[in-house]
Amino acid sequence: MEIFSHCLLLARKIKSWYASAMKIEAIEHKLQDGTIVQLRSLENTDAPLAIAYVATMYSSSRFLAREIEEWVITVDEETAWIEKANSDDKRVIIGAMSGGQLIGLCDFAPVASMKRMAHRAQCGLSVAPEFQHKGIGTLLMQTLLQTARQAGYEQMELEVVSLNHKAIDLYKKLNFSKCGTIEYGMKYKDGTYGDLDIMMHRLV
Ligand SMILES: CC(C)(COP(=O)(O)OP(=O)(O)OC[C@H]1O[C@@H](n2cnc3c(N)ncnc32)[C@H](O)[C@@H]1OP(=O)(O)O)[C@@H](O)C(=O)NCCC(=O)NCCS
Repeated sequence: MEIFSHCLLLARKIKSWYASAMKIEAIEHKLQDGTIVQLRSLENTDAPLAIAYVATMYSSSRFLAREIEEWVITVDEETAWIEKANSDDKRVIIGAMSGGQLIGLCDFAPVASMKRMAHRAQCGLSVAPEFQHKGIGTLLMQTLLQTARQAGYEQMELEVVSLNHKAIDLYKKLNFSKCGTIEYGMKYKDGTYGDLDIMMHRLV
């Protein structure tokens, strides 16, 4: 799986060199409106849910890296992707589950495989449109940052479309700061462009 945010464009190209697992046991949260949300590592059996969820996100958001027609993946491929992440102590994929549905996803992976880059992680985050503005994105990102710290990373990085104020506000609230802009970083099918902000959060 390449999740939702262009921060993860490179994730699949990075060869994993760690052997042990980095898995999040289920943590239950009750939201202000009473919704119960469980955050946990995705399991192999979640592959069909994950494929459908990511398709929904690509169809609904201009702030993610892929066009929906690029999201062509089999259940076997998705299962293998989840399995690989779950057996790597420098990667994690966290799902937000509610009523048997997958309603949010976030993940991190190393930015590169070189030793001099090994202290840096990159991440992605998304929440299903009908579950946004309930605090789930914040919960997912807080859990992700805590897990990355435990995994020994020193900083978390991401790229976000400069017009994605909702995401940028959330990242700022969690002490990410902007370190630069890639102008024209996103090119849409209609020929228009979006700039990308680079943001970073120190974990140490
Ligand atoms: C960006 C994104 C992940 C945010 O997820 P979210 O679950 O809506 O985030 P939160 O609910 O934690 O916070 C968003 C807002 O809801 C507010 N909120 C949080 N809990 C709330 C509650 N119980 N009731 C009402 N509002 C609430 C927050 O204060 C925040 O508002 P603000 O922007 O005015 O500060 C989501 O909009 C999304 O998936 N967008 C599409 C994909 C995307 O852009 N991903 C990021 C790519 S870099």
